[in-house]
Amino acid sequence: MKHIPKSMIAGTGSATPEKVLTNFDLEKMVDTSDQWIRERTGIERRHILEDGKANSDLALIAAKRALKNAGLSPDSVECIIFATLSPDMAFPSTATALQAKLKAFNASAFDISAACSGFLYAMTLADSLIGNGLYKNVLIIGSEILSRYTDWEDRSTCVLFGDASGAAVLVPSDGKRGVISTYMKSDGRLSYLLNSPGGGVLHPASHESVDQRLHYIKMEGNKVFKHAVRTMVDAAFHCLDLAEASSEDIDLLVPHQANKRIIDAVTERLNLPQEKVFINLHEYGNTSAATIPLALDEAIQQGKLSTGQLCLMVAFGGGFTWASSLVRI
Ligand code: ACO
Repeated sequence: MKHIPKSMIAGTGSATPEKVLTNFDLEKMVDTSDQWIRERTGIERRHILEDGKANSDLALIAAKRALKNAGLSPDSVECIIFATLSPDMAFPSTATALQAKLKAFNASAFDISAACSGFLYAMTLADSLIGNGLYKNVLIIGSEILSRYTDWEDRSTCVLFGDASGAAVLVPSDGKRGVISTYMKSDGRLSYLLNSPGGGVLHPASHESVDQRLHYIKMEGNKVFKHAVRTMVDAAFHCLDLAEASSEDIDLLVPHQANKRIIDAVTERLNLPQEKVFINLHEYGNTSAATIPLALDEAIQQGKLSTGQLCLMVAFGGGFTWASSLVRI
């Protein structure tokens, strides 16, 4: 492996709401069926945050678990990077909301917006902040409450999304474990295929914007699907090339969980056996920036990924954005 890691993952944590919405529940809400959803997406259930709770409330649980697993106290956290497309409010950042709830008063805190690729963008940033000596630890979060951006009358999108939080703490590498290579890319020309147009400066919240349902997620699923496969494969091979590694070296692929058919197509192109791919999409649906840290934490907790093993994470999302990280756990 070419690169010596600068930072490593010292601990992970995740949290999902208790309330579950099954495909059968959705059958009663829109013209769909459990069979269609399972066959076209692989999703069976998704978890929904209760009314009145914020993104930062769920992220707080994930962050506390990650810090505990890393053996760090909240007051020792030096930087918080919060990746989300469903912030508590337009400003200030959800990172500062989490900072206050976590009582991490010695940290800097900011959000990044890279949709489903956000957590891997955050990992690249954290790796570089630690690598250049600015911080001794960085808490990175991928957390989404997509149920609040979902149009529950649109069957083409409402069956896909759910709520979840995931977190990881990065610290300086011990020289063996850590982030070996990362890759980030975007293409803003394709933003029209996947977005939530209302509530920003272009279409400020108004009776009209709400009547037109502009505050919900809009997606041309079929076109997005093709780009998702192409870009995730591109990101995976770039990361492996940077590390002078091959897909045979990978112990576990942790892909963005948007659609089982997308994951299968990426797995096939990487020539990986099914047992080297972690999937929890059936339980949570697409939780955007939270899918990778949630899957990473579950893989570690379930013993499917252990210290010293090589994990490739690869994501794709609105923007479009795509990203990957190759990490020795
Ligand atoms: N139930 C039943 N039928 C449905 C449903 C539903 N929930 N949704 C759509 N259909 C119908 C359509 O109306 C269409 O019917 P028609 O042939 O009569 O017109 C038919 O099913 C096929 O529709 P497609 O959109 O072509 O179905 P497709 O196989 O592409 O699956 C899906 C749709 C699941 C959305 C898929 O395209 C997909 O997963 N796309 C990628 C999503 C993704 O990766 N997003 C990325 C990130 S998300 C983020 O950044 C927030």
